[in-house]
Amino acid sequence: MRVIIVKNAEEMGKKAANLIAEEMKEKTSFILSLATGSTPLPLYKDFIKRNKAGEMDFSTVITFNLDEYVGLDPAHNQSYRYFMNKNLFDHINILKKNTHVPNGMAEDIDASCKEYEKMIDEIGGIDYQVLGIGGNGHIGFNEPGSSIGSLTRVKTLTDETISDNARFFEKKEDVPTQAITMGIGTIMKTKKVVLLASGANKADTVKAALEGPITSMCPASALQLHRFATYVITEDCAAKLTLNYETV
Ligand code: GLP
Repeated sequence: MRVIIVKNAEEMGKKAANLIAEEMKEKTSFILSLATGSTPLPLYKDFIKRNKAGEMDFSTVITFNLDEYVGLDPAHNQSYRYFMNKNLFDHINILKKNTHVPNGMAEDIDASCKEYEKMIDEIGGIDYQVLGIGGNGHIGFNEPGSSIGSLTRVKTLTDETISDNARFFEKKEDVPTQAITMGIGTIMKTKKVVLLASGANKADTVKAALEGPITSMCPASALQLHRFATYVITEDCAAKLTLNYETV
């Protein structure tokens, strides 16, 4: 596991963009899996800057988002489809038809989850996975207790996650209680992973994920078994780590 400690969130975005851009250069078609939440925003800003400067071309990139709330229409301003359009896709030269977000409105949700997983497999798998981390160690919406081998499916959100995400909704009761998420097993199949975390409030979570035991109670700890997982984290977020890591 590679851990890179950077000064601040802007540097975190830049470093992660560098890692992904390097990899993109090597491929004619690139399969990228993306996360939502506030943490990856500096990365998406950096992607937009590079794309506008002609340094990064997204015209042949295909994306698969990690997750989506069940019951939110893509046009809802808290849906993850809306988030991705607003914060990234609307500002880069990606083809919208090449961007995939799980369908939280599907009539047969289980079938649509299976179909999502199949699409990823049939395209040859994900080249680079971007992850954030929830306060309880979740990745995507794989809440504590999620099977480490799990594939795309519906998960019921924990009270902690509902409270954490309530800040984006008018009131806590508006937060959907279920979400579709790529599984931990889906994430483990990806070729490379970069997990981003910033801020002192994630220091305990990152410590548990990186230096604690591998356990379904801290879903991000499963990345200890991934062959190409990199954490890019800010100094304040790394404050509780005890081993020596790369500092840039
Ligand atoms: C949501 C998303 C996760 C994200 C997490 C953390 O629960 N499903 O993918 O990592 O929020 O969000 P933030 O980066 O805002 O702390």
